[in-house]
Amino acid sequence: MSDESSDGEADVELEARLEEQDAFAPPESFVEQANVTDEGIYDEFEENWPECWEGAAELLSWDEEYETVLEDDDAPFYEWFTGGTLNASYNCLDRHVEEGAKNRAAIKWEGELGETRTYTYGDLLNEVEAFAATLRDLGVEEDDVVTLYLPMIPELPIAMLACARIGAPHAVVFAGFSADALATRMNAAESEYLVTCDGYYRRGDALNHKQKADKGLRSVDHDVQSIVVDRLGDELKHFLGTDARDYHELIEEHEGASVEPVSRDAEDMLFLMYTSGTTGQPKGVKHTTGGYLAYAAWTSHAVLDVKPEDTYWCAADIGWITGHSYIVYGPLALGTTTVMYEGTPDYPEKDRLWEIVEENRVDIFYTAPMAIRAFMKWGKEYPERHDLSSLRLLGTVGEPINPRAWKWYYKHIGNEECPIVDTWWQTETGGMMITTLPGVNTMKPGSAGPPLPGIDARIVDAEGEPVDAGSAGYLTVQNPWPGMLRTLYNNDDRFLSEYWKEYSDEDADEWVYFPEDGAKLDDDGYVTVLGRVDDVINVSGHRLGTMEIESAIVGVDGVAEAAVVGGDHDIKGEAVYAYVILEDGQEPTDEMRDRIVAGVEDSIGPIARPEQVVFTPELPKTRSGKIMRRLLEDVASGNELGDTSTLRNPEIVDEIDDQVQGD
Ligand code: WTA
Repeated sequence: MSDESSDGEADVELEARLEEQDAFAPPESFVEQANVTDEGIYDEFEENWPECWEGAAELLSWDEEYETVLEDDDAPFYEWFTGGTLNASYNCLDRHVEEGAKNRAAIKWEGELGETRTYTYGDLLNEVEAFAATLRDLGVEEDDVVTLYLPMIPELPIAMLACARIGAPHAVVFAGFSADALATRMNAAESEYLVTCDGYYRRGDALNHKQKADKGLRSVDHDVQSIVVDRLGDELKHFLGTDARDYHELIEEHEGASVEPVSRDAEDMLFLMYTSGTTGQPKGVKHTTGGYLAYAAWTSHAVLDVKPEDTYWCAADIGWITGHSYIVYGPLALGTTTVMYEGTPDYPEKDRLWEIVEENRVDIFYTAPMAIRAFMKWGKEYPERHDLSSLRLLGTVGEPINPRAWKWYYKHIGNEECPIVDTWWQTETGGMMITTLPGVNTMKPGSAGPPLPGIDARIVDAEGEPVDAGSAGYLTVQNPWPGMLRTLYNNDDRFLSEYWKEYSDEDADEWVYFPEDGAKLDDDGYVTVLGRVDDVINVSGHRLGTMEIESAIVGVDGVAEAAVVGGDHDIKGEAVYAYVILEDGQEPTDEMRDRIVAGVEDSIGPIARPEQVVFTPELPKTRSGKIMRRLLEDVASGNELGDTSTLRNPEIVDEIDDQVQGD
């Protein structure tokens, strides 16, 4: 037997074994060195709640010790670590430098074209101080919201930490969002300062970002001062107007500045992050300095097993919460080396990520299921080109991962030697909520795992009663946690109605948080998350509100009505399907379709681009006139269509289905 065929057979055997296996114990080699290994932690946290969270606060340096762990007088407006004061940038930078880590790499940045930059903790502190001095000079005061509209370049975390240093909350807007989306967010946050850049690279092409920022600024209803980072040099010449300054010139001017970190109350706002909800208006999720930072640090320690000597890589974008908590705040609070990659995973080749893992000897790698599905599709030969033996732990976040993709990740990236943490959480939760502890629990592919210690997550039916193991229900969280959102910016009412109305008993002062996800529990208390139960869809791990997309489409001339749903997609998880009714006299032409797609891109961004635009004279409606979204989802996903006889217009369903399946 030749080597090749025996390898091949071994492979087939292995695949077959993996295929059947539904529980994986954490590898011994991992457990031996893990930050958390004692399963007693679950009981300890339960018996000692909420004081158990003092352990998270202890990961930080406080200027003033807190007096109370949890203040629940005004629930659900909970407060954590009240009376304590601290500064997030001090915790992420100064204290590590003071402890002798000045020359340790803090950020290792990989540009798309192959250039690299390393910032030690000392370098990072210097530039953060220079930029903090710059912002102050510009007039930024404590509690002023600074908008950061930047791609994955080091100046983004630098600007975040500079804001944190002077107590100015940042609001990062994902660089892929459109000019309109930027304007909506700056108006909602009344933000008078913007940090942006000339452009950045995508698949080797220079994209003009400043043009988008300028266009957005024209729709902002107040004066704005901006700072522009020159990322592209001569590649893209740009002009600064009277209200814009050049980042690098300002840094040079303020080089060597010393800016004392401002002592912030634990409950003071650290940042705002806009996310999609059921209605068209994005929600400004407010996170605080003490609770959020403690929770990001604690989960990075307990779940991601981060140690200061590690090289850690979360391949997300800082424009989303994952990047805030697990590229910037969690890892830097723990003093580790965090990797940042500017570009796409398949440029210039489909092994780009594995090349970065090999070159940087990455220990921990955290990504999204959509990326894993793409790696699977491209094939194992790409990871096989590289030495990935430095990896110790793998993670996923953002959407459910199916067991096949989980096993592929486990075998072909982790070489069966790395635990995988499938972490369920949200923008609103600030950090991970449901996942295995990699040094403690058995892993079950497809199931995120038990709730973290101290988190009382339960699955209930429509009445709020716990469902039996094996049945689907609604996920709820029945006690508060330090990383939770405190409110929606300038909108306490919406905070109450979005998250607390459904299952709380206000009269009894019992508050239950509803994340709007469906889930299922197994006999061991492991949670399988089934997905959103509201009108939010999850495209490539990005949260989009169907209402936002619908209003973009209805805004296109000639469109009368639109219904947007998510349909299954091999790689993206879900894709956007738009069913559109045109005004009388309008023709369903390709030109109209293009205008609709452009309308969505202009109002939200290319991530929301519809996979299919289906023109229809009517939408399927119930007799009471409600659009049957479930049916539109089935059509989009190519599922068997259920009983349509209760519809007011059953004949329309076949018509739409023929169009979608025929395309
Ligand atoms: C989904 C991202 C299944 C879920 C951190 C949630 C997941 C929404 C998982 C939040 C997971 C996130 N398994 N589903 N491991 N992680 N989700 O706010 O529907 O962008 O409500 O936060 O993503 O998305 P968000």
